[in-house]
Amino acid sequence: MPAPVPAPVEPTGPGTDDGPAHVLTPSEELRQGLAALRAEVAKAVVGQDAAVTGLVIALLCRGHVLLEGVPGVAKTLLVRTLSAALDLDTKRVQFTPDLMPGDVTGSLVYDARTAEFSFREGPVFTNLLLADEINRTPPKTQASLLEAMEERQVSVDGTPRALPDPFVVVATQNPVEYEGTYALPEAQLDRFLLKLTLPLPEREHEVEVMRRHSQGFDPRDLAAAGVRPVSDADQLTRAREEVARVQVADEVLAYAVDVCRATRQSPSLSLGVSPRGAAALLAAARAWAWLSGRGYVTPDDVKALAHPTLRHRVQLRAEAELEGVTAESVLDTVLAAVPVPR
Ligand SMILES: Nc1ncnc2c1ncn2[C@@H]1O[C@H](COP(=O)(O)OP(=O)(O)O)[C@@H](O)[C@H]1O
Ligand SMILES: [Mg+2]
Repeated sequence: MPAPVPAPVEPTGPGTDDGPAHVLTPSEELRQGLAALRAEVAKAVVGQDAAVTGLVIALLCRGHVLLEGVPGVAKTLLVRTLSAALDLDTKRVQFTPDLMPGDVTGSLVYDARTAEFSFREGPVFTNLLLADEINRTPPKTQASLLEAMEERQVSVDGTPRALPDPFVVVATQNPVEYEGTYALPEAQLDRFLLKLTLPLPEREHEVEVMRRHSQGFDPRDLAAAGVRPVSDADQLTRAREEVARVQVADEVLAYAVDVCRATRQSPSLSLGVSPRGAAALLAAARAWAWLSGRGYVTPDDVKALAHPTLRHRVQLRAEAELEGVTAESVLDTVLAAVPVPR
């Protein structure tokens, strides 16, 4: 997982040893604008820096995020705070067992005055959707969201309706072994750019959470905690244009591909990373390079993003799982084995 966004580095001037003259130098103003999101989120959420950085990377890539953690580690609070820190249209849907597909995508409603059916947009028509506790809802409703995520449109009565741009879903879930949950279909997990995990807080962070609570912090009132919109769609678009210009040298590109290919050879896996996964890894590494103030991707960027972009795209063999092997440990093995370009 990437570390928090580092402090600004000295921009490398054109024609230095660090890269050729045409390499982009990320705009400090844009970069700081996005880094400001982290400071805003920190007004409500203590720690969890890696997850916050992951969410910013996803926004830069217009990618969806699966956020996993046991109950009570601030999954919901984190995404609610991020929403409050963005001047974007945001919606939240609680995925309950009785939620219907139409409650997500929208449905046709009959208007008695005009005697016609018209489409009423569901909450999916938004810029940032918090799909809370997605694995508590049955597969049919999950599928309606996963389809919309993939196609960036909703088709009801045969008419496709485009979703807004950006359209980013952050879905939260408890670890899948929890009771009363419907695991997301393996085949559809790769619609998420990143899978981020929220660990239990460190002691020092947990003490700080308690201190804030005793000083009157109310997680339901983020405005009172001073959380304000500090970034918007325009800023995200401009940042994305810069991210698109971040360069990937052939050998770094080949390194990302080799890492993904190596997962397909792993004896512990029944399913390795697809080419779609390799593309996701490169996209996320580019955004991370840009956030770090560089106009080019290094092998370390690829390494830093390998876990969050690949961990949900591999499938363990049952035998390996019994032996205690995890997706994480397989990825560690692969990263240790694949030669890194100099
Ligand atoms: N890292 C944290 N920073 C701030 N508050 C936290 C943190 N971890 C837990 N909390 C507290 O625990 C509550 C539960 O968080 P919530 O977002 O509902 O968890 P989850 O969605 O993971 O079940 C929050 O409202 C907050 O008061
Ligand atoms: Mg929650």
